[in-house]
Amino acid sequence: MNPWKSIALSDYEAHMALPAVGQAAMLAAEFAKAVADVQPRSLALVGCAGGNGLDQIAGTALDRVICVDINGSYLEQLTARYQRTIPHLECHACELEGFRTCGTVDLVFGGLVFEYTRLGEAIEAVALLLATGGVFVALIQMPASGMPTVSPSPYAQALDGVVDFFQYVEPGVLAAVAAARGLALGEQRSLVLESGKSFSVLTFTKAQPGG
Ligand SMILES: C[S@@+](CC[C@H](N)C(=O)[O-])C[C@H]1O[C@@H](n2cnc3c(N)ncnc32)[C@H](O)[C@@H]1O
Repeated sequence: MNPWKSIALSDYEAHMALPAVGQAAMLAAEFAKAVADVQPRSLALVGCAGGNGLDQIAGTALDRVICVDINGSYLEQLTARYQRTIPHLECHACELEGFRTCGTVDLVFGGLVFEYTRLGEAIEAVALLLATGGVFVALIQMPASGMPTVSPSPYAQALDGVVDFFQYVEPGVLAAVAAARGLALGEQRSLVLESGKSFSVLTFTKAQPGG
């Protein structure tokens, strides 16, 4: 069973927000950058947890904001936080791999979620969700020597369950899986936090069918 179903959002968020971990701020900043670059009318945040980053779009006029997460209680808390400030907010509690909806969005952002998915199925869901010409941004964790998967913190024990489930996603593999589904890699950037943890941000565009 996916361990994320039994991790308290408070433990996860407290861990990510610790200055020594520093990942919550990094993820929110990358989401904000993607929104600023793409200027979408609609977007999806997949593996959204409690909505880290959504305060960046609060009050903006988007036609549709889709949030997907396997943990329904995270989405309840996300809804309580954002339903008044984000119009057209839709939350879907399910595996990303099986997520299907009517219509498409201009931007799909997934930060530190693909490490916990069946990659081909997850990227298939992203490709179907994305409009032609739309942009997909994936932020993935890179191996760094001497760095544990989950950084040491007072909350790390609560996150123990994810360590065995976590699987690094190799950027070349992600690019190939995405290309097979019509998502063409544009930019790839590296990020290294003060903790030494390293990440890769890959940006894809959905090509015209047959294009
Ligand atoms: C490491 S957290 C990243 C959360 C978030 N992106 C952030 O900025 O903090 C991984 C998230 O993905 C969710 N998740 C894990 N596997 C999933 C799956 N197969 N489908 C949908 N969500 C999943 C977890 O519940 C969790 O909220």
